[in-house]
Amino acid sequence: MAEATFHFPSKFLFGAATASHQVEGNNTNNNWWAWEHESGRILNGDKSGLACDWWGGRWKEDFDRAADTGQNAHRLSIEWSRVQPTADQWELSVLDHYREMIRGLLERDMVPMVTLHHFSDPLWFSELGGWEHPDAGVYFSNYVSKVVDALHEYVSLWVTINEPNVLVVGAYILGDFPPGKRDFNTAQRVMYNLVQAHASAYHVIHQLQPGARVGIALNYRPFQPARSWSPLDRGMAGLLSNLFNEFFPRAFTTGKLRYPFTRKRISAAANTQDYLGINYYSGENVAFNLLRSEDLFTRRFYPPEAELSETGMIANMPQEFFQGLKWAKRFNLPLFITENGVEDSADRLRPRYLVQHLHQVWRTVNFNYPIEGYFHWTLVDNFEWERGWTQRFGLWELDVETQARRKRPSADLYQAICRTKGIPSQAVAEYAPELLPQMYPG
Ligand code: FCB
Repeated sequence: MAEATFHFPSKFLFGAATASHQVEGNNTNNNWWAWEHESGRILNGDKSGLACDWWGGRWKEDFDRAADTGQNAHRLSIEWSRVQPTADQWELSVLDHYREMIRGLLERDMVPMVTLHHFSDPLWFSELGGWEHPDAGVYFSNYVSKVVDALHEYVSLWVTINEPNVLVVGAYILGDFPPGKRDFNTAQRVMYNLVQAHASAYHVIHQLQPGARVGIALNYRPFQPARSWSPLDRGMAGLLSNLFNEFFPRAFTTGKLRYPFTRKRISAAANTQDYLGINYYSGENVAFNLLRSEDLFTRRFYPPEAELSETGMIANMPQEFFQGLKWAKRFNLPLFITENGVEDSADRLRPRYLVQHLHQVWRTVNFNYPIEGYFHWTLVDNFEWERGWTQRFGLWELDVETQARRKRPSADLYQAICRTKGIPSQAVAEYAPELLPQMYPG
């Protein structure tokens, strides 16, 4: 075996990503809190409760953990329902609180990347109709302007909306996110409103802060035809890819919205990305199936040989990640990996998953892809939406009862990577030795 290190550029950002509702605790005034209190919505009836108690101050110790292990960036989100608890009320003390947290990152030499919307909506907004409301974009950009006005001194990397594609699918197609609808027409309307919301936010941010860099975090999911010879499988894989992967970044490039049966245009949305953020977890196979109208006539499944995560939600498919980055490059924008990780309470798969995925990022760096950073999902186990506490994505384990944290081996592995700004064979030998022959032959 050769001893070697796969180096990344010296300015590359290595961090973790988090979201307000998943870590702060006591977000009592948003639609997810209400959803958690309806029976049957969250697995096991789990509740976010105190989450990781960041609002109670534990962000400090968690930022220390990240900084002490060599992370030089962190992606976090602002909770809209705290900043604007009712339609005509702005909480300046909340903005102070976020300012203190973000300064906390800068004091630890970490670059903040700030998400303005990560799935959760203020209750007043949901009651008005949420993303279905024709003025959703106006409400959103008003909130964005307050936040950016307050924080632009400390932040220049903004994510307007996290995974607009997952939000649409979860909330309006599968119905496992609030408001729990399953209606393709509503979904299409919400897609329109989300494009408008991002576009207005983009322009508002640039007015307040011309040097800002603004984008979205897109969940990229490669869909492979299950039988490559089948035109129907190929057609369905293409359709899903168009809707799920292409719709938003294309709208933010051209201003054109391409639905399956119609086209629309929002001119103000053209050229409203300064970078593209990619959240990647897994790809999947798609087969046409006439009996499954509820699933857009498809059956979707992981390749039978793929290694699955603990609860089966994620298949370890690093090659598809490379294909995804190749796809993303076509937009001619700088790229960030805004999320990537795996649920694994015993930390059996995570070290391998982490190394294999970062190795693909490294390959793209070597092809001169304009890729600037990687944010692991996530720092400490957190509240995973409709899956509650059943999935453990943290580099640190969380005891939800006591708030105690315990470091997983992957945190040490990631430290070795962050500190060398590369993937050293010594670290792979220690944490994922099974990868050595393939990664460092000779
Ligand atoms: C992504 C979400 C993030 C987290 C991970 C596991 O879709 O953006 O909040 O739940 O999945």
